[in-house]
Amino acid sequence: MPDWTALAADLDAADPLATFRDEFVIDEPDLCYLDGNSLGRLPKRTIPRVEAALRQQWGGRLVRGWNDGWLDLPVRLAGMLAKVLNVQPTEILVGDTTSLNLYKLALGALRAHDKRAILTTSDNFPSDLYVLQGLGAELQVVEPDLLESSISADTALVTASHVAYGSGQRSDIAHLSEIARKNGAWSLWDLSHSAGVVPLDLSTADMAVGCGYKYLNGGPGVPAFLYLRSDLHETVLNPIQGWFGQDRPFSFEPEYQPVAGIAKFQVSTPSILSMVALESGLELYPEAGSELIWQKAVSLTAFFIDMVCSEMPGQFEIVTPLDPAQRGAHVSLRHPEAWRITRALTDRMNVIPDFRRPDMVRFGFSPLTTSFAEVATAVHRLTKVMKDRIFDELSDEMPTVT
Ligand SMILES: Cc1ncc(COP(=O)(O)O)c(C=O)c1O
Repeated sequence: MPDWTALAADLDAADPLATFRDEFVIDEPDLCYLDGNSLGRLPKRTIPRVEAALRQQWGGRLVRGWNDGWLDLPVRLAGMLAKVLNVQPTEILVGDTTSLNLYKLALGALRAHDKRAILTTSDNFPSDLYVLQGLGAELQVVEPDLLESSISADTALVTASHVAYGSGQRSDIAHLSEIARKNGAWSLWDLSHSAGVVPLDLSTADMAVGCGYKYLNGGPGVPAFLYLRSDLHETVLNPIQGWFGQDRPFSFEPEYQPVAGIAKFQVSTPSILSMVALESGLELYPEAGSELIWQKAVSLTAFFIDMVCSEMPGQFEIVTPLDPAQRGAHVSLRHPEAWRITRALTDRMNVIPDFRRPDMVRFGFSPLTTSFAEVATAVHRLTKVMKDRIFDELSDEMPTVT
C-alpha cells in the first residue's frame, strides 16, 4: 500500500500554488474542506476591503458613493471575469443570480428566434430546469449522452451545464455549440462548476451564465455573471426591463429604451457590498494563472481517485469520469449509504464534502485552497468511516442544506 501521507507531502512541496492557501482564512487546520465547489473559502484580502466599503464608502460617503466608483464596479468586475472566461469584457455582465441570468438569456433568445424548441439535459442543475420549464417553450430534456444526436433543425436553443453538478461529467462546449450552430440553434452554457477552474473556450458558444461563489471564492450569494457573444447584443434583448438596463436611468423617462451593448442585461441597483467581496476572489485567478490552476485540479482529483480505489477497493462507484479531459474539479462517489456517510464525515471526522441525491457523496477540489495533505487526511478518515461502519451510528435525518 503506498504511503499516501508521504506522497501528499511531496506533492505539496512541489506545488507551485501551495502558497495561495495563505491568502485564505483557514481557522481550523484540522478541517478537510472539500466543498469549495459549493462555497469557496474566504480570501483574507476580502475582509479589509469589505470593511472599507462599509465604513469609509457607505459610512462616510453615503449616496455620493455611487459617483465615487460604485457604478463602475460591475464594469470593472466584468473586465476581471473576462480573463477567467477568455472573452471580451464587453461581452460580460456581472449581476443578479445564475438562475435569473439564465432566465434573461433563455427567454431573450427564445423571443428573438423563429423556432420554439429548447433542448437540455437531465443532469442539468434543477434550478436551470425549473427556469426552462417556466418559459412557455417546447422543452426537450434528454440524457446527457443523447444531447448531440438530439439537436435538430427544430432546435432554437441548446442549454446544458459545462460540468454537471452531480456526476462532474464535462461537456465539450466547442463541439456541441458548433453542432447547434450548424442546426440554426444558439447555445447557452452554465459554467457554475467550471468558471475559475477549467480553462474555457467559448469561441463557438453564444451565451453562458455562472456564479462567483464556488471556485471564484467571491462569497455566499455574490452576484453571478452572464456572457452574450457581441454579435447577438442587438438581437437578444433582456425580458426584464429594469431601470439599470435603460439608456439613461437617471433621466427617469417613462418609456423603456434599452442601453446599447451588454449593459441592457442589468436590471437593478448593483449589490455593491457583495461585488466588493467578489473582486478579491477574481483578483486571485490571474495571480495564480489558469494553466497552473487546472493542472492542480487534475492532480488533486487524480490523487483522490487513486487513493479511494487503493484504500477502499470496490466500495464506491466512481461516478465522475476517470479521464481528466471529461471532468471538472469535483468527484462524486456513489454508495447506498451516501447520506449517512456524508454525515459521518462532517459530524464525526471533520471532513466537509456534500451530499447529492439520491446516493452521491461529492468532493470538491479547489486548487487555490485545497492541499494534497488535506485530501490524504480526508480519504484516511473516509476509510475509517467505512471500515468501522461509523455511519451506522447516525440517523437519516436531513438538514435543509446538504
Ligand atoms: C450548476 C448550477 N447552476 C445554477 C445554480 C444556481 O445558482 P443561483 O442560486 O445563483 O441561481 C447552481 C447553484 O449551486 C449550480 O450549481
